[in-house]
Amino acid sequence: MMNDDDELCLCFHVSKRKVINYIRIHRPRVPSQLSECYGAGTGCGWCRPFLRRLLEEAQPEQAELPSPEAYAQQRQQYRDKRKT
Ligand code: FES
Repeated sequence: MMNDDDELCLCFHVSKRKVINYIRIHRPRVPSQLSECYGAGTGCGWCRPFLRRLLEEAQPEQAELPSPEAYAQQRQQYRDKRKT
């Protein structure tokens, strides 16, 4: 499970904590609004479904997320696939 200090947006190094705080304070309705949270989601696009998952949770800190290792690894596969 991801910790609050782990990065949710690996492109822009935005931690899960930053995203959760942003959601609490600004209550964005769509994930694209999280771009104002240090650019989260505006790079490769990998983290967007996860940002959406946090938005949809009443308690975002409880959202189901992979381990940081699996998360980073799956992103690599995602990016490799997009390149070909
Ligand atoms: S990991 Fe967030 S845009 Fe690439």
